[in-house]
Amino acid sequence: MSTLLDIQDLAINFKTRSGDVHAVDGVSFQLEAGKVLGIAGESGCGKTTTALSIPRLLPSNARLVRGHILFDGVDLMQFSEGEIEKIRWKQISMVFQGAMNALNPVKTIGAQIIEPIVWHEPAIARGDANQRVLELLERVGIPAARARSYPHEFSGGMRQRVMIAMALACRPKLIISDEPVTALDVMIQAQILNLLKDLQKQMNLAMIFISHDLSVIAESCDEIAIMYAGKLVERGSIRKVFSQPAHPYTQALIRSFPNIYGKQELIHGIPGYPPNLIHPPTGCRFHERCDRCIDICAQSEPVLREVGEGQIAACHRIGETLP
Ligand SMILES: Nc1ncnc2c1ncn2[C@@H]1O[C@H](COP(=O)(O)OP(=O)(O)OP(=O)(O)O)[C@@H](O)[C@H]1O
Ligand SMILES: [Mg+2]
Repeated sequence: MSTLLDIQDLAINFKTRSGDVHAVDGVSFQLEAGKVLGIAGESGCGKTTTALSIPRLLPSNARLVRGHILFDGVDLMQFSEGEIEKIRWKQISMVFQGAMNALNPVKTIGAQIIEPIVWHEPAIARGDANQRVLELLERVGIPAARARSYPHEFSGGMRQRVMIAMALACRPKLIISDEPVTALDVMIQAQILNLLKDLQKQMNLAMIFISHDLSVIAESCDEIAIMYAGKLVERGSIRKVFSQPAHPYTQALIRSFPNIYGKQELIHGIPGYPPNLIHPPTGCRFHERCDRCIDICAQSEPVLREVGEGQIAACHRIGETLP
């Protein structure tokens, strides 16, 4: 196993008129080649900001406060814009929520899929590039003959398949998918998720998979990272985190999802709202909503520590025997 992606102490702010938004603060994680890491957490906790920072696609008001992003051992933060462009699509590609709406309406889908190929591989023979487009289409479940169709001739699910074909076009090592199925209906969601899962296995891709839906993460990923208010609060294998969640936030998040196999009961929401990230709370950022909060939680920030094999969590109360 080799580490493909190593994010170290990433901190990103957004400049706004009301002050700096501390969107990501001290996030670290690693991803092995060929593995899938899910990132979960409530809206606004910094998932997309973390993801966009890897291929350096953050909006212009974003500032890197500190941190390193090592990809194949090289720090992407040191790269110039020109150097990072060579990495995007070629080594790291993305499938975003609503990506299908980004297709150019006046170009055939074949002409759009070929673009990153000829850009990144200028020496490729036109015939070979065309051939690859046809293979990619078949691979994502679209008949090759449809290469000459325009985006409006496809349904939303089919257009998202086209985006996946584009993401795979240059045979990247890492795919970042941020809510890739959120805008689609449930049947199509399942098909696209299965497609992503199959492709990931067949092509031995590493993947970061961001979703609000814990059940989707449990099914599709090897590991899960839970974020809360810009911080990573827990990380570990799917099996460990779902069977023995250590952080009260992870526990609450899991409780807030229906379990069709378990006892039928009302879902427990998490009371309150995530904090304002211009003035994040002192101590543990979750303390104001936590039912296990004690004095220290408001005063000092808990550090991530090992709570089980390959599982870490940041909570002052871990290790206590509870009544
Ligand atoms: N361009 C921006 N300018 C100012 N603040 C921003 C900007 N983009 C994001 N934010 C803020 O940064 C924080 C993290 O946002 P982010 O989009 O990363 O969250 P998320 O976890 O992806 O949420 P969601 O689940 O809703 O997609 C939020 O407080 C958000 O309001
Ligand atoms: Mg997001």
